[in-house]
Amino acid sequence: MNAITKTDLSAIDPEDIGTNPTNGPTFEEIVEARLSRRSLFKAGVGTASTALLGSMALAACGGGGDGTPAPAPTPAPTPAPTPAPAGITLSFNPVAKSLADVVSVPAGYTASVMYRLGDPLATGVAAYANDGTDAAATYAQRAGDHFDGMEYFGMNASGQYDRNSSTRGLLVMNHEAITPAYLHPTGQTIVAGVRTVADEVLKEFFVHGVSVVEVNRSGAGAWSYNQGSTFNRRVHTLTEIDLSGPARGNAAMVTKFSPTGTRTRGTVNNCAHGYTPWHTYLACEENWAGYFRRVAATDNPNRSAKEVASFTRYGVAGTGRELWATVTPDTATDLYGRWRAEVTGATATDDYRNVANTYGWCVEIDPFNPTSVPKKRTAMGRKAQEGAWLGPVVAGQPLVWYMGDDSQNEYIYKYVSNAVWDPADATRGVAAGDKYLDDGKLYAARFNADGTGTWLELRFGTNNITAAYAGYAFADQTDVLINARHAADAAGATRMDRPEWAGVNPANGEIYVTLTNNSSRTFTNTDPANPRYYDNVATNGTITRGNRNGHVIRMAESAGVGGTAMRWDVYLFGARANAPASTNISQLTANNDFSSPDGLWFSNATPGLLWLQTDDGAYTDVTNCMMLAAVPGRVGDGGARTITNTNTAVTPNTTATQGSFVGTAATDSNLRRFLVGPSNCEITGITESPDGTAIFVNIQHPGEATVPLADFATNTFTSYWPYSSDASAIADTTVLANRRRPRSATVVITKNGGGKVAV
Ligand code: FEO
Ligand code: CA
Ligand code: CA
Repeated sequence: MNAITKTDLSAIDPEDIGTNPTNGPTFEEIVEARLSRRSLFKAGVGTASTALLGSMALAACGGGGDGTPAPAPTPAPTPAPTPAPAGITLSFNPVAKSLADVVSVPAGYTASVMYRLGDPLATGVAAYANDGTDAAATYAQRAGDHFDGMEYFGMNASGQYDRNSSTRGLLVMNHEAITPAYLHPTGQTIVAGVRTVADEVLKEFFVHGVSVVEVNRSGAGAWSYNQGSTFNRRVHTLTEIDLSGPARGNAAMVTKFSPTGTRTRGTVNNCAHGYTPWHTYLACEENWAGYFRRVAATDNPNRSAKEVASFTRYGVAGTGRELWATVTPDTATDLYGRWRAEVTGATATDDYRNVANTYGWCVEIDPFNPTSVPKKRTAMGRKAQEGAWLGPVVAGQPLVWYMGDDSQNEYIYKYVSNAVWDPADATRGVAAGDKYLDDGKLYAARFNADGTGTWLELRFGTNNITAAYAGYAFADQTDVLINARHAADAAGATRMDRPEWAGVNPANGEIYVTLTNNSSRTFTNTDPANPRYYDNVATNGTITRGNRNGHVIRMAESAGVGGTAMRWDVYLFGARANAPASTNISQLTANNDFSSPDGLWFSNATPGLLWLQTDDGAYTDVTNCMMLAAVPGRVGDGGARTITNTNTAVTPNTTATQGSFVGTAATDSNLRRFLVGPSNCEITGITESPDGTAIFVNIQHPGEATVPLADFATNTFTSYWPYSSDASAIADTTVLANRRRPRSATVVITKNGGGKVAV
């Protein structure tokens, strides 16, 4: 049999394939098409450009080229600022950038591997062989692959939530995706586009999803996971999950599996996460669309125009990234065929034409109730759900979760509960979820050129979200939730540079969102909130363009969490320290330069301490992905800025200015590199013990860039982590890879001698 394995997933990062059709010419580009660039720019302020641009603030568009001074953006009148965070002093020495295949932490700290891909989660499950031979069925009780977002829930001796327990807890984490090469003896077996080994596919079903795992601290301070805990659980692509909220029972949710449209099987591509005030976990479904097989050329003729518009907007149009639907024969329960989102039967109850509509949601899981059925919370809207981060919890006020839709040029959202918070609900588990997560308002963010922002409600009948909208003829509010991307398009939200994690500063309630990068950002379509277009120049001289290093935007609600007005600025721009000042706007140094921020998380033990994690491919000629500690200020602590972008793709080069609002520059005191990961990994997922003395950090997909077949033949991988410090294991090529295959894992980081981490 001629086994052909797939190569590096990172080369086809799904988030890099934008599906926002409103990413057409901007108003500025249309203007530019009518005037020559030179004449527009020479016109400068007050003549042709102002006349044409009308009410658009000049700060929002290119101007000031050819030496013409650009106007500084004009900020809106500023209300009283949010409270300044308490002073925090970072007390560690910065870690140097590195390409070493190890986890580097500051002197005086210890990073210990605690929980790895394949580790058993029940007594009687064998230790992981890690050579591709572990039986597929055992993976239902093993750690999944690609560790991602996670949350620590303290637990007392009675097995109940205890916010202060720093010796026993439940660690709940996502397993976003897989590196197939290392899961099977020599990668995936694929013959002529067909998966021919069903057990390989079954294994892959299990290693996606979520882990719930009990962790304990010994008297000596060492953390370990408890293999035999009755709380250990895996939620994966076979787990039955209730559809909850407005879309439950909707015709668009009907499948052969659930003719009533009330249930689905599984969750997939769980990237980041969230949690609730009643101590449940939200696993968010990010790049789910690519898992489904739907060949548009043959399926579209069987679909309505609205269905095609929906599939197109979410990118449900391909052969399925892992080819799961190709296994034959299928089982009586359509184990494989249910990944085929095509019209194959007479009605929706005969096939899986609607199955993709049951993905793209936040999935609530009660970690303290191992037999509970998880719920997909449809009121929160459907998108490439990076995560959902809880805002301030105040009795008598609504609850809010901030969410990113991670694809190029997608949006930032918030969900606000209609019910106001009653602290008595804190012990009600998912029953509280029914109250707060099934009934609320969904908004998408628009960032204005004067430093204000507007939360646009995605409500049928408002904000252009009607049956008459040209992009998608909305039928009702449930249609809006299922097609939230179309609704945000209609409302006119701002297309962002890939919204990843969000976090709310417990010191002042301000909201931070990472915008990891955007290779499709063009010279002419920058905007105040996504203001950079520049050359990212690698050490070998290779140039990539766009916003390759990403930035972090932040917001302050102007009228409470349920309001529609906010203020914003850009907290931080990623850049190489040696980039020009026009690119390295935050003045990063060798001690804190970074690229592609993704994970973002505020400590609760140390209010005001922020952690940033990277998932990068733009600075990896110099350093592996990393984690930094930060002490941010607040919205408006910098001011209006004029950013100069240069287009070197044309001769002669052209420049244009873009107004924005930028926080104070980074310093070695308020931003400092804490960790650098092993080769070809992503650093993602961080949580802490409530006392702040231990942080848990996930190392995702070390060695992902390996090309499987050739590397298995020569037994060489691009990473051996977490075995890379074991020279004898690396040298041992007599046993096929079992001591050497890299594994995603959770590391626990503590300060030697104790004390809070980082401060
Ligand atoms: Fe899975 Fe957007 O990172
Ligand atoms: Ca991410
Ligand atoms: Ca990412």
